[in-house]
Amino acid sequence: MATKIPSKKITLTEARELQTDTLKFVMKTAAEMGDICKLEVGFWDIYFLNHPDYIQRVFLDNWKNYGRDTFQFKNFARVTGKGLLTTHGDYWQQHRRLAQPGFHKTKLDGMAQAMATAIDRMHGRWDQQLSAQTNIQLDMDAEMLRLGLEIVGSALFSLDFSEDSADLSQEILGMMQYVVYRSQNLLALPTWVPTPKNVRFNRTLRKVDKIIYQLIQDRRRSGVQKNDLLDLFLDGRDANNQPLAEESIRNEIITMIIAGYETVASGMSWMWDVLSRHPDVEAKIREEIGTWEGGSTLEGVSVLRYTSAAIDEVFRLYPPSWLITRRSQAEDQFGEYVIPAGSIVVICPYSIHNHPSFWKDPKLYRPERHLIDYANYPKFSYIPFGGGPHLCIGRPFAKLEASLVLVKTLSRYKLTPTTPNSPPLNPQVTLRPKHGLHMTVSSI
Ligand code: HEM
Repeated sequence: MATKIPSKKITLTEARELQTDTLKFVMKTAAEMGDICKLEVGFWDIYFLNHPDYIQRVFLDNWKNYGRDTFQFKNFARVTGKGLLTTHGDYWQQHRRLAQPGFHKTKLDGMAQAMATAIDRMHGRWDQQLSAQTNIQLDMDAEMLRLGLEIVGSALFSLDFSEDSADLSQEILGMMQYVVYRSQNLLALPTWVPTPKNVRFNRTLRKVDKIIYQLIQDRRRSGVQKNDLLDLFLDGRDANNQPLAEESIRNEIITMIIAGYETVASGMSWMWDVLSRHPDVEAKIREEIGTWEGGSTLEGVSVLRYTSAAIDEVFRLYPPSWLITRRSQAEDQFGEYVIPAGSIVVICPYSIHNHPSFWKDPKLYRPERHLIDYANYPKFSYIPFGGGPHLCIGRPFAKLEASLVLVKTLSRYKLTPTTPNSPPLNPQVTLRPKHGLHMTVSSI
């Protein structure tokens, strides 16, 4: 007979904490309830899994049993529609196969060039301001968002967002904040009711749709092959061997933009904060970059092993995708426990990355963990990019982008914090710094 899963009915006070200080609630629950528990939240039973073996069961060993029919993905779908990030099963598999070659190693070098161009453009803007003063104050979070959006636009779709990236990135961010608001307010009025939030959301979505449908039309009319992800979707076929519907292409483009810009930007924002507070690590990266002769290519950055570990460790402490949900299709066994069919399952990269049984001094920033100690932590205790067949398709892209931003920026500038402490964590769709990340930037 299965052992009863530790359960807890969430009180009103806890429900409020869950809404206002989600991460504190999650960490407290993990400490009090153990590695598997059932939380009864209103009408819903939510199973929280916080052990690498259980996570491996959901992501890999029995992954087909865990679909995306959850509030989290339904709310994402308000923006992306039915796409790679929100689906499971045959439709997902077909689209994953279609998109996968777009991230092949051979494609990444071309993308590295687009990334380098966007980074140089950002530095050009900084230099312009620095020509008049010795240092400047920047919100690095806004800078990283703007850069991230320009990079997904140009590297994946040959789209130039540089003119409106500052406004557009903030608008899309607002749209994603609305997605979080809908997840937290299950009784919110339907999106067609003209509340100020709904009106703003629908307006931004229309604006983004217009850009994307225009992009599809322009490319089709031009007949030019750019050998990018858009071409793959335009040439792609559905299950009936028919060209993909316009809406499916739109959904995949917006999926890549949404999944690919705020995630990297959030990770990079935390990178700047962490490095500015760990001069020893920054010095080691500078030393590695100092002797580096690689160019802006995948191979060029792959030799920067310490730099790569420093990025991995930021993604451990600040996993941009801090929460992942699934719904079980059939009953499933987790050691001595059984989770019923139709259950909501929650995996929190932030909590497993801080689990004291798998991470020594989890709060400490130690890039070396990802070098010498690699064999010492179980694979599914480090999941910033998820795992199994749904593993983030953009992982190599994200690592490449983060490395290039870091290397190119550190070789030219010094960044110092303007506040004594790191900004508080703000768990939205991604794990963001609350009120931005204000830093002083000077040339070196
Ligand atoms: C630091 C940056 C990134 C992080 C932390 C991240 C994280 C993740 C995670 C955790 C998942 C798994 C979600 C799940 O299991 O349901 C995922 C999936 C996905 N990511 Fe990323 N991601 C990043 C960057 C990117 C980029 C740059 C792109 C595209 C250019 C991208 C596109 C996607 C897509 C399309 C999926 C769905 C994959 C599938 O289900 O087949 N991501 N990402």
